[in-house]
Amino acid sequence: MVTSPTALVDRFGRVHTDLRLSLTDRCNLRCAYCMPPAGLEWTRRAELLTADEIVRVAAVAVAAGVTKIRLTGGEPLVRPDCVDIVAGLAELTPRPQIALTTNAVLLQDLAQPLAAAGLNRVNLSLDSLDRETYARLTRRDRLPAALAGLAAAQRAGLAIKINAVLLPGINDTEAPQLLRFALEQGAEMRFIEHMPLGEAAPWQPDRFITAAEILDRLRADFELEPLGRPDAATAERWLVDGGPGVVGVIASMSRPFCGDCSRLRLTADGQLRHCLFATTETNLRAALRSGATAADLLGLMQTCLNDKSAGHQVGAADFQKPARGMSQIGG
Ligand code: 5AD
Ligand code: SF4
Repeated sequence: MVTSPTALVDRFGRVHTDLRLSLTDRCNLRCAYCMPPAGLEWTRRAELLTADEIVRVAAVAVAAGVTKIRLTGGEPLVRPDCVDIVAGLAELTPRPQIALTTNAVLLQDLAQPLAAAGLNRVNLSLDSLDRETYARLTRRDRLPAALAGLAAAQRAGLAIKINAVLLPGINDTEAPQLLRFALEQGAEMRFIEHMPLGEAAPWQPDRFITAAEILDRLRADFELEPLGRPDAATAERWLVDGGPGVVGVIASMSRPFCGDCSRLRLTADGQLRHCLFATTETNLRAALRSGATAADLLGLMQTCLNDKSAGHQVGAADFQKPARGMSQIGG
């Protein structure tokens, strides 16, 4: 790959083209694998990056070769200026692809304005199609709102993927129904292995549902033909029943894909992370608020990347769980 002299390359030659921006650590759900029932101690407003600060960081990243930007949270749509942020990102040159990861509860009213502002794609988290199971898992009875959000995203012409995390004894038997639903919607279904992040459901190495188990369950109902994992993608994909439908599995635990990772993450409070499992962060907020230039910010991004290791060590004896959970890191 030809890279510009300012490209974000780490010690292992991995080029970083993908920036994940967490807009807030707040959320309107309380998914069992992510948050305790009472929520977390939310970041104070003054510590959250402003829309302008977020776009400034993104501009530096785009100039250094980032081509894909994903907005995450917490739940990014609880932030009142989310449409303005998308509009700001859409003005960057070269224009990045802009994607959003959301639980869709607030998408019904926002899908159209977000699409008009320049959003290209959405990943919706939908762990169950059964209202009671959804309410138990997310601790909120919001399945109808999430489904209305999905319908609105379709009307707005957004490309859609549906994400689910399967938890043993809660929604693990629903994999085929979820895939069938996604196929009916013309959306790509993606199952994500539960990762040891977050506060609530304790992750146990021998208890999470693995990619192999997910595929076994799906194969009972569908023919799956392997399509592999394209460069630097997180999901390995299969053609379903001869196509055109596709299912993906993100096997971060059982089949880690760190070797070609292209992702950098910015937390809602302005800390740059080179990995979900990083135990160190680079403080861009302090730099932004003390007059840093674009070159200074680029230098800090490179400093962060210099710390990136070859792969996560989940499962190793000395594995240290990051101090902050998924909603604070920006899944
Ligand atoms: N393990 C795996 N996936 C998670 N998500 C949130 N927490 C975890 C976890 N501990 C998922 C959400 C959402 C995406 C951002 O990450 O369900 O789809
Ligand atoms: Fe909210 Fe996403 Fe965490 Fe669920 S997984 S509580 S939707 S941030």
